[in-house]
Order: sequence, then structure tokens, then C-alpha cells
Amino acid sequence: MAIEHRYFSEDASIDIVTGRHRHAPDARMKQVMDVVVRKLHEAVKEIEPTQEEWMRAIAFLTRTGQMCDASRQEYILLSDVLGVSMLVDAINHRHPAGATASTVLGPFHVVGAPERPMGANISVGQGGEPLVVSGTVRDTAGRPVGGATLDVWMANHEGLYDVQQQGVRPEGNLRGLFRTGADGRYEFRTIKPMSYPIPADGTVGRLLEGLARHPFRPAHIHFIVQAAGYAGVVTHIFDQTDPYLASDAVFGVKESLLANFERTHDPEVARRHGLDGEFWRVRQDFTLMAESTAAAAA
Ligand code: BEZ
Ligand code: FE
Repeated sequence: MAIEHRYFSEDASIDIVTGRHRHAPDARMKQVMDVVVRKLHEAVKEIEPTQEEWMRAIAFLTRTGQMCDASRQEYILLSDVLGVSMLVDAINHRHPAGATASTVLGPFHVVGAPERPMGANISVGQGGEPLVVSGTVRDTAGRPVGGATLDVWMANHEGLYDVQQQGVRPEGNLRGLFRTGADGRYEFRTIKPMSYPIPADGTVGRLLEGLARHPFRPAHIHFIVQAAGYAGVVTHIFDQTDPYLASDAVFGVKESLLANFERTHDPEVARRHGLDGEFWRVRQDFTLMAESTAAAAA
């Protein structure tokens, strides 16, 4: 029979606290909080913080919460730099190989991006080197998926998203929703992505500094690819030559998401996009898994 502890003690702290959860009506919540309390007490017992250190930890979490508003989510950023976002992603996508791999969503996705025609330019009136992105969305049997949507967003040549420069950059710039044709193909024009630092002016930035970690993400373009009957995928394509691939601040890089950005002057593509001389081109296909396959693997 389990020993009933009446009062708090260092030795029995975990049993004493989790014992108070015994009438919790929600079994999942009880399970989660039992584990959280156990791991937290184990951490405190191993670290043995001074009272001052514990108050610094509380102040860190308080300031993190105070930084959160409609356009800034410091807690998501904290989850990202601690690798927790990618761990939750991995746990929820233990799918058979074959479909395009998922990665971190990040804080700069905007629901309701403007739908744009095939071939549209999502970079309006900004610097940066022209890039044409194209490819095919397929199912795991290699058949083209027509009518798939690709929600695309990326930072500008200074490493900033439109939502970070409200009132400065046109809203919706470097974003767009594209739809594949019956042949599964998509194509759009943008600028070559650059590596950029995640927002480092808050508590997460101080944490990275304290750990001698840099805040950079390797150059990438974000995609959410979806089609009826298929499991949607939140993913990126990364420039395979970027120096930050092995040290992405948020651990989002996967080998299968590396893409070849090549210089070209292909006259046919140049004509379609009103380009002159050399420009960048990347071709990246996406593979979607049937919803039923994803559900069976979950
Ligand atoms: C991003 O790639 O937009 C991003 C992802 C995680 C944290 C910050 C930014
Ligand atoms: Fe990004």
C-alpha cells in the first residue's frame, strides 16, 4: 500500500504533490500533470537553485509572457529554440517514408493569404535577387495532384516578414496561395531567400546569448501544401548551400528538404516571368500522403 504523506518533505515531494491529483476528472490532464510535476521536481532536485536563481527563472517566464501579443509569440519562439516544437512535430508525424517531410510552422504564417494566379510574382517593389520556384505536387504513387493549394510565405532580402514591418511593407507581400493545375504543377516568382535571425530582442534572444548560441535560420521558403483527401504538410525548402543548415536556431532542417537553387538564363522561363539575363531557379516537388494512410499510421 502506498504511504500517505501528510506534510511536504524534500524526499517525498513528488508523491505528495501528485497525490493531490488523484480525484482529477480528466485522466489525460492528470497524466500530463503527474509527469510535469515529477520531471520538474527532478530538475529542481538536480539543479538545487538558490532562491535568487528561482526568482530569476520566474522573472524570465513573466517577461516572456509580457512580450506576447497578437503579432509576437515569445512562448512559441521559446518552444522552437528549445527543440520542443520539432519534437512535437516528430511525434505527430511518424509516417511511413515517401511523403514530403514536415517542419516547424514558425510564428509568421498568416491565415487567409491572397490567392494568386499561376506564375504570379509575390515580391512586389523590393530588393533581392529574382527567383522562379516551380514543381509538381504528387501522391505517393507518383500521380499528379490537381487542385492542391500551396500556401507560401517568406522573409524579404533583409530577413523580415511583412507582419514584422506593418505600415512599412505592403501587407501580403512575399505571401500567396497557389493552386496546382490538373497536371499537379505550380510556379511562382519571388526573390532568393536569405538566412535571417529569429526575433532576438526579447527573452529568447537573452537566453540564446547566455548559451552562446546564434539566432540564425538558414535561407528557406515556407509552404503548407494541402489537397482534398490528403494529409496536409507544413514544410520548408532550404537552400542546400546555406552555412547555417547544421545550426538552425530552431532545429527545423531535414535532409530531404534541401533544394538546389541554381543560376540560369533559361529564355523560356525568363520570357514567362518578364526577366532579363541571369536569375535564380529552384525546382521542388511535394508528395502528399492519403489522409487514410496518415490516420492509420498515427
Ligand atoms: C520562421 O522560419 O519563420 C521561424 C520559425 C521559428 C521561429 C522563428 C521564425
Ligand atoms: Fe521563416
